Parts: sequence; C-alpha cells; structure tokens
Amino acid sequence: MKKAIFYGSKGGVCEGFAKQIAEKIGAEVFNIKDCQISKIAEYDFIIFAASSYYFGALQEDWGNKVKLLHEIDFSNKTIALLGVGSQARHADSFCSGIADFYDKLRFSGARFVGEVDSKDYNFSFSRAQKGQKLLGLCLDKADEDKNNARIESWVKSLA
Ligand SMILES: Cc1cc2nc3c(=O)[nH]c(=O)nc-3n(C[C@H](O)[C@H](O)[C@H](O)COP(=O)(O)O)c2cc1C
Repeated sequence: MKKAIFYGSKGGVCEGFAKQIAEKIGAEVFNIKDCQISKIAEYDFIIFAASSYYFGALQEDWGNKVKLLHEIDFSNKTIALLGVGSQARHADSFCSGIADFYDKLRFSGARFVGEVDSKDYNFSFSRAQKGQKLLGLCLDKADEDKNNARIESWVKSLA
C-alpha cells in the first residue's frame, strides 16, 4: 500500500508532526505548497494534514487546492486527517480546518479512519468534532507532554 502525507504548514509545526508520523508509518511526505493535487492519486493511504488559522480556516497553502480534490477518484482510498492548532488561544475553533477535507470528501467513496476521542482535550468548539470524536488526530504544540503518546496511539489505530 502506497502511503503519503500531504500537509500545509505556515510556521513548521504541522510540518514537524507530519514528518514524525510519516517516519513511523513509512509514508512519503509532501508540502502541498510545492505539489500538484494530481500527486494524491498515486497513493492508497493518504493523510491530509493542516494547521488552522483565522477562525478555523485551513492553512492557506491548501487554499484553492482543497476545492480541486473532487478531481481525484477516492473510491479505493483510505484517508486519515491530522489537524494542528492551539486550544489556549483558539479554543472556539480548535483544529477546525480539517473539517474541510471531511466535508469535501465524505461522499467521495473514500474510507475515513483515525478518529480520536475528544475528551482528552481542552477546547470549547471545533468543526472537527462530531459527538465525542474528533475527525482526526488533533495536535497542539503546547501539549508537549501528550503529543508523543497521542501520535503513538493514533499510528497504532491506523495500522
Ligand atoms: C493568526 C492566527 C490564527 C490562528 N487561528 C487558529 C484557529 O482558528 N484554530 C486553531 O486551532 N489554531 C489557530 N492558530 C494556531 C495555529 O494553528 C498554531 O500556532 C499552529 O501550531 C501553527 O502551525 P503551523 O506552524 O504548521 O502553521 C492560529 C494562529 C495564528 C497566528
């Protein structure tokens, strides 16, 4: 199975997490800024990763690219989502951007994996929250003491 992580990251935080996870699961890793959307079609297992900005928007390098995702046939593909944000500063939109991937692709035929429990977090609202679950792994660089364990258990859940 060919695996890849496509990330958008302004300050390098999401990039760092994406590379850490890529190494653990044996995935290639691409900055969406330098990449054509058609590249995604080459992979079976895809992690879409992004930090959130401005009231829960996707990091800007995803910009128009997220709108083009319907051009890819996802029917035999598996998708997981990785969000990066700040609970302390943006508690009302924590990691909301990754909901854009879900909203765009939920009826694409792709299989979504990698939901996580939201109870271990400390925010008031996120578009990435569905009931007690988050649509994907959400990481906050301020949670230094928790991030490695979160990554470890998420990666196991993907296997
Ligand atoms: C102007 C600004 C707006 C932000 N808005 C959000 C937000 O709406 N939700 C969130 O979870 N984090 C928000 N953040 C926090 C960033 O997502 C966080 O700092 C993240 O680590 C940046 O990752 P990056 O370096 O990969 O871009 C914001 C940060 C800035 C500077």
